[in-house]
Amino acid sequence: MNYQIKNLLEYTNAYDKSVSNPEQFWEEIANGFQWKKKWDKTLDWNFDTPKLEWFRNGKLNLTENIFEKLLPTHRDKTAIIWEPNDPDAPSIHLSYGELYIETCKFANAMKAQGVQKGDRVIIYMPMVPEATVAMLACARIGAIHSVVFAGFSAAALADRIDDCQAKMVLTSDGNFRGNKQIQVKAVVDEALSKTDSVEKVIVLKRTGEDVMMHSGRDIWWDEAIAGQSEVNQAEEMDSEDLLFILYTSGSTGKPKGVVHTTAGYMLYTYYSFINVFQYQEDDVYWCTADIGWITGHSYIVYGPLLAGATTLMFEGVPTYPHPGRFWEIVEKYKVNQFYTAPTAIRALQVHGTEPVEKFDLSSLSVIGSVGEPINEEAWHWYHEHIGKGKCPLVDTWWQTETGGIMIAPLAGITPNKPAHASLPLPGVQPVIVDAEGNELIGNNVEGNLCIKFPWPSMIRTTYGDHQRCKDTYFSTYKGMYFTGDGVKRDHDGYLRILGRVDDVINVSGHRMGTAEVENAIDEHPEVVESAVVGYPHEIKGQGIYAFAICDSSEKSNEQLAEEIKQLVRKIIGPIAKPEHVQVVSGLPKTRSGKIMRRILRKVASRDLSNMGDISTLLNPEVVDEIIKGAGLY
Ligand code: WTA
Repeated sequence: MNYQIKNLLEYTNAYDKSVSNPEQFWEEIANGFQWKKKWDKTLDWNFDTPKLEWFRNGKLNLTENIFEKLLPTHRDKTAIIWEPNDPDAPSIHLSYGELYIETCKFANAMKAQGVQKGDRVIIYMPMVPEATVAMLACARIGAIHSVVFAGFSAAALADRIDDCQAKMVLTSDGNFRGNKQIQVKAVVDEALSKTDSVEKVIVLKRTGEDVMMHSGRDIWWDEAIAGQSEVNQAEEMDSEDLLFILYTSGSTGKPKGVVHTTAGYMLYTYYSFINVFQYQEDDVYWCTADIGWITGHSYIVYGPLLAGATTLMFEGVPTYPHPGRFWEIVEKYKVNQFYTAPTAIRALQVHGTEPVEKFDLSSLSVIGSVGEPINEEAWHWYHEHIGKGKCPLVDTWWQTETGGIMIAPLAGITPNKPAHASLPLPGVQPVIVDAEGNELIGNNVEGNLCIKFPWPSMIRTTYGDHQRCKDTYFSTYKGMYFTGDGVKRDHDGYLRILGRVDDVINVSGHRMGTAEVENAIDEHPEVVESAVVGYPHEIKGQGIYAFAICDSSEKSNEQLAEEIKQLVRKIIGPIAKPEHVQVVSGLPKTRSGKIMRRILRKVASRDLSNMGDISTLLNPEVVDEIIKGAGLY
């Protein structure tokens, strides 16, 4: 496979070149793709505005680099293996040739329903091959997709539809997840009652349950594609035309639409995929993420398909119908590369090794981790029991905003150190800075993680609000992209990510802004004020702990706490539901009125050591009350 690094020396050479001459480094990789017209300027950037352009005036269509480029050699190769939620239901194998036909038919169907280049299309779907088809069909016709995780609530979906003024929603009647059947279409109907930009909804029949179809607006997937041509002329896109928007949480209340564009994202997801996982032509690769997250975008769909890989898509959950389900699937398809999240590993670890030992995992050659820091215990369990001590474990650090993996071992090539993401990929220039933004050089240093030079798949803007992009990522430290993560460079020079340094909580690898949860809690009629913090959670990595001041004479604290939990679940979705809600009479505040979250984090973590000086608080007496209320005395 072209551009695949084969040994440590090649890595060092590629890395050095990518730093000394980044333009030339990426041009060579770009030359391996199909362009309708080559670019005239490789990179134009400044981190102040910020302005970020790669391959200016290049013309291409990303899907031509999956289909037109690969079909001559890959037509009959399996592109997607789909494993359904129910192990007894039939699986699906889609070849590149079949995926091409499905994509063209659906692209034509969307056009027939009025979608044009530049229109936004929301994808709110289960993990089925049609979801991938939908993404590719959007890319084919130049529509901008925004996939929304199908576990989000109607209100969260409505916010996203509204923010990008989507014209179409693609969804299903329902959704199977483990032993649950989720009514997806009803959520869409509710969301659409709150927004008015959507003109058409295409509904895939998945569960077969009864749903309301609004005449003139809703159409079944099968009917939409009936009679559509199996070919489609790909739209000509500029390198910097939007490929997709993906909403993610930040430290302010409203999720932001991270924007990725066509050429840079294409190059980087391809390049990082083949190098980190060391994919070989006949391998079967499986990433367990949901396509609603960036990991699903980059490493179920785009990276693997651009590399002509066989990518496995699983509809279900790790523990249904039994805790060996992942391993059963590895055995069934002889999976070679397996990529999952620490939270899944920890959840399975609880069941011991028996469910693992029932299955033959000898096909595995690489195992990977993403989404949150992997603790050493989980790392060792994963390495020993799943990787049988022989598979490199790639701990991949990256973000929705980075588009692709930034810091990670290249499997079997660069060193594998427990709980360390290790070294940057070629093209990535990480720096560690102190609070003032001074770069910390050398080993054994700890600080905030920034990136000082652009890479092709980096965020371009936050949709509809460029200032927000600047404020969030480019203003904390001048001339650098700030990741929001803390990092340590150890005595060997390997990087270890320490977790978020801002008000973002990472629950089971899902990013939640504390402000976003607080906004939801504040909707409760009896809540006066709230504060949300994260605390260490054995399985989820972090859990959500909420403190709320309530004004109620009738309800008990337990009742209020339960109502608040249910409210957050309704407003954002089950993933945001706080583990604990503590009703308090006041929140610790500084004299300027700022909530002292540090103290709340201590209480939530049940660790009262090093509480620090609380005498400067406006209301030191509430601290005692909060500690008592948490049952810590
Ligand atoms: C965290 C997921 C430690 C980090 C691809 C980052 C990690 C946030 C790792 C992005 C890792 C992701 N080690 N922390 N290997 N991978 N993170 O946008 O805090 O959902 O900023 O992207 O997850 O989460 P996001």
